[in-house]
Amino acid sequence: MTGFSPDWLALREPADHRARNAGIANMVQARFATRDHLAVLDLGCGTGSNLRATYALLPARQSWTLVDYDPALLHAARSTLARWADKVEIANHGLSLIKDRRQITVTFRQADLAADLDGALAGDADLITASALFDLCSAEFIRRFARAVAKKRAAFYTVLTYNGIQKWTPRQPSDQAIAQAFNQHQMSDKGFGPSAGPMAPSELADGFQSSGYIVSEGESPWILGANDAQLVSELAEGKARAAVETGQVDAKTLAAWTSVRRAAAEIGHTDTFAVPGDGRAGDIADSDEDGDED
Ligand SMILES: C[S@@+](CC[C@H](N)C(=O)[O-])C[C@H]1O[C@@H](n2cnc3c(N)ncnc32)[C@H](O)[C@@H]1O
Repeated sequence: MTGFSPDWLALREPADHRARNAGIANMVQARFATRDHLAVLDLGCGTGSNLRATYALLPARQSWTLVDYDPALLHAARSTLARWADKVEIANHGLSLIKDRRQITVTFRQADLAADLDGALAGDADLITASALFDLCSAEFIRRFARAVAKKRAAFYTVLTYNGIQKWTPRQPSDQAIAQAFNQHQMSDKGFGPSAGPMAPSELADGFQSSGYIVSEGESPWILGANDAQLVSELAEGKARAAVETGQVDAKTLAAWTSVRRAAAEIGHTDTFAVPGDGRAGDIADSDEDGDED
């Protein structure tokens, strides 16, 4: 497993929510504005951050299925969502929540997306969503995933896919060497085969367009400053660790890079919203599935 800790996810959650692209969020909201109820599948849910940010865009009644392969994170999602809601009832399926007058039922599903995509996507979904997931996935997985979503004719909304941009303040001459090594590390195998890493946003756009979807994208950078000191410091440490693991950065470059405390950072992400183009997306997916390399 990739091993994301609830503490790390809690630390990044405010920056994640702030960073979301407002234009893309508006498109999601407009798409479902006339609906009374929506079934939503959240992949790689962690502790439920995506639900806590997306529910406000969606109709009065929402049924969410939260999917992750890490049972500890699913457990943390349950307790974090129960604390976050205005009212909570423990139900057979999971939780029934009231938040800002919306009725939200939440079901939890432990599934490995890489090993059992069909199992992870099982059931009806109007919207399939994820936050900070697809840079971990391979290009091959993303294409297969786009076809599976098209087969269900669901809309697709994902936020905070890392796109390779890193800017630090103050700048250092070694910034570029560290960024290159980090981006290389991002492309290592995180359980899906070689990760798309910073190419994930364009792989998503290609994959969904090939499946007959209309794709919209917007930037959602973390703009981190004085109020995000702990996040900036942990990010810098994490990036240095990852860069070292690639073996591409020598000790002197690393020492120079880590010796400077960063006051601010910009880390680039992309948000993606994709909807079936002409009602034939599922047919295209079916014919692909019948005859291609998968
Ligand atoms: C960067 S975290 C994002 C968590 C959450 N969506 C958020 O925005 O806070 C990536 C999440 O994907 C999950 N994940 C990674 N690989 C997975 C897989 N193969 N199957 C299911 N979940 C996976 C991790 O357990 C983790 O919860």
